[in-house]
Amino acid sequence: MVRVDFNVPLNEKYEITDDTRMRASVPTIQKILKDGGSAILMSHLGRPKDGPAEKYSLKHLVVHLRRLLNGVPVLFANDCIGPEAYKMSGGLKPGEILLLENLRFYKEEEKGDEAFAQKLSKLGDVYVNDAFGTAHRAHASTAIIAKFFPPGKKMFGLLMEAEMQNADKVLKSATKPFVAILGGAKVSDKILIIETLLEKATDIIIGGGMAYTFFKAFDGQVGKSLVEEDRLETARALMNKAEKKGVCIHLPSDSIIADKFSNDAMISYSLVGGGDSVAAVNQFGYANKVSYVSTGGGALLEYFEGKMLPGIAAILS
Ligand code: 3PG
Ligand code: MG
Repeated sequence: MVRVDFNVPLNEKYEITDDTRMRASVPTIQKILKDGGSAILMSHLGRPKDGPAEKYSLKHLVVHLRRLLNGVPVLFANDCIGPEAYKMSGGLKPGEILLLENLRFYKEEEKGDEAFAQKLSKLGDVYVNDAFGTAHRAHASTAIIAKFFPPGKKMFGLLMEAEMQNADKVLKSATKPFVAILGGAKVSDKILIIETLLEKATDIIIGGGMAYTFFKAFDGQVGKSLVEEDRLETARALMNKAEKKGVCIHLPSDSIIADKFSNDAMISYSLVGGGDSVAAVNQFGYANKVSYVSTGGGALLEYFEGKMLPGIAAILS
């Protein structure tokens, strides 16, 4: 039994728009098959609220999974526990795969319910956890099920191993300069990681919504941007600590002020003029990213100086 993280994005036609997580689990599955086993795969998909829902069914992944495994038979059980799942897992032949329906169709999964975990455990002989993406959740299939398998019958998969090795490599033996780039909406989620990085990194680049909490903390104007008002003090403390440690925190210097958060928003304050400047803007394809491209060069400069331009004065007078 392999707990994988097949929580992949699907579009409205239930097509997978990014299969990175599925591809990443292939080496573990192939190893099991090569060693003469069969694999029962279990995962969640999305965050279903009230039991089964078409949108969150793992059946949408079957065809692609089969393709990724070069045509190996992939069976699908419409329920992750219950008679059908037991029958199908029991009848599985070496070299075959069984994908179970979404674990989160049972509330017990997220609650870390022991009885549910035990029912799942009965489907297989060995438990492999390869779901690094879900390792921060103490759910039945990630944190509880292992106790129903004796030592030697529970292990990490190859992906889990690689993830831990790579993360440790960065955290424990990164060479300097060590630049960390963080984004996301909230500072509150990332305080601990920023604190850890302050001990290791030379530079921390902060982007995304949380940058505005930092701007506001230092009296910046942020308009209607995302801000965590109750974290301004935290942002100040992190900046002070960074300064003491000689870590350079970089905040965006190219924020754009616009009338709404949208691709067709009106962008304020930007005007470009002058032959070479306009040529550069056009050449880099930025013409529609500035509010206005002036045909003036010297005329524009003199207009800005406040001079009455002869060509304007002649008409006005
Ligand atoms: C993820 O996509 O981050 C993991 O699959 C965990 O999903 P969750 O955030 O819904 O628990
Ligand atoms: Mg998540």
